[in-house]
Amino acid sequence: MFEKVEAAPKDAILGLTEAFKADPRAEKINLSVGVYQDENGKTPLLECVKEAERRLAAAPTTKSYLPISGLADYCRAVAELAFGAEAEPLSRKRVAWAQTPGGTGALRVAADFIHANFPQATVWMSEPTWPNHPQIFAAAGVPTKSYAYFDAKTNALNLEGMLADVGKMQAGDVILLHGCCHNPTGIDPTPEQWKKIANAVYARGVLPLLDFAYQGFADGIEEDTAGLKAFVRPGAEMLVCSSFSKNFSLYRERVGALFAVAPSAEAAESVQSQINKVVRSNYSNPPGHGAEVVATILGDESLRKQWEGEVATMRNRINGMRSELVKALKDHGVPGDYSFIQRQRGMFSFSGLTKPQVERLRDEYAIYVVGSGRINVAGLTSCNIDRVAECIGKVL
Ligand code: LMR
Repeated sequence: MFEKVEAAPKDAILGLTEAFKADPRAEKINLSVGVYQDENGKTPLLECVKEAERRLAAAPTTKSYLPISGLADYCRAVAELAFGAEAEPLSRKRVAWAQTPGGTGALRVAADFIHANFPQATVWMSEPTWPNHPQIFAAAGVPTKSYAYFDAKTNALNLEGMLADVGKMQAGDVILLHGCCHNPTGIDPTPEQWKKIANAVYARGVLPLLDFAYQGFADGIEEDTAGLKAFVRPGAEMLVCSSFSKNFSLYRERVGALFAVAPSAEAAESVQSQINKVVRSNYSNPPGHGAEVVATILGDESLRKQWEGEVATMRNRINGMRSELVKALKDHGVPGDYSFIQRQRGMFSFSGLTKPQVERLRDEYAIYVVGSGRINVAGLTSCNIDRVAECIGKVL
């Protein structure tokens, strides 16, 4: 049977890191996968994480199974981080939740939940979006369509086009939005635009699903909840998929969460039972360590302060690299106005590089960026930025 199996295409993002690792050229630079690197090109283990791990190691409890929906202290803490400690959906107990293996796990649980409970629903995604989004929903058997999002001419949000496409959605469809730090464009709606989008989505009877993977990487941990909070209204429903890979630098621990905001506590109980059913048949119950680390940090005032500082350090370094890149491109005489790079938020910059230019960067200069032209700004350092700018100039 296996001889008839055809090789699958390489993953658009993770496949590039495999190719990067195999590249023997010493001058190679990886700006593909969305992983934060510090000034020395290393992905840090945060100090607050090290301290939480020390505490957990000193007070071992058990490695028995967690409940299907995960560690309750963790779910509550990360729900408060996303919605706010005083949020009405939390106090009214109308939020069902699950600790999931990363944000991808949350998206897959959401996709299976949608497929099982709303078989007529189409999930609408921004054009462009994270390449794994369509794959996850396709794997769950959920039909997908795209809505307008990015205006390449102005390097800004195409709000008019987006709202026009919301008008084409059916009641009962789902709109997948990026809570902040849109991946790949780095273009987020303003708080006023978020309100308009939420009004249009709810007026149409469409269910919002927010992929919230970069909280704290745009303007601040609290500031970055503006989009999500635009959808929090009395009785209103929504899904949120959170990831703590980036903001706790816990990538390989696979720490995420799914929240389903139901109109009432009774509805939330049924939704919880359906989420549990999906989890049980996928991976039974989630892994413990990463969630224990996050719960320890968020539950301790001084560790939490330390974490907020470490997130700010990562955010500020990325934003600093944005300005440096604009300057370096100018210094190398690269024609065009690249000031938009400074306005983009999060790890990524949508550079406008074409596929052949991206290929030349990789083949001739050993610089790896995603095929769409997405550059991981968090992979730039003062040591490599000059060469990156120079080579971008050459391929342009
Ligand atoms: C990315 O977009 O590079 C990250 O979200 C990592 C991934 O899993 O693709």
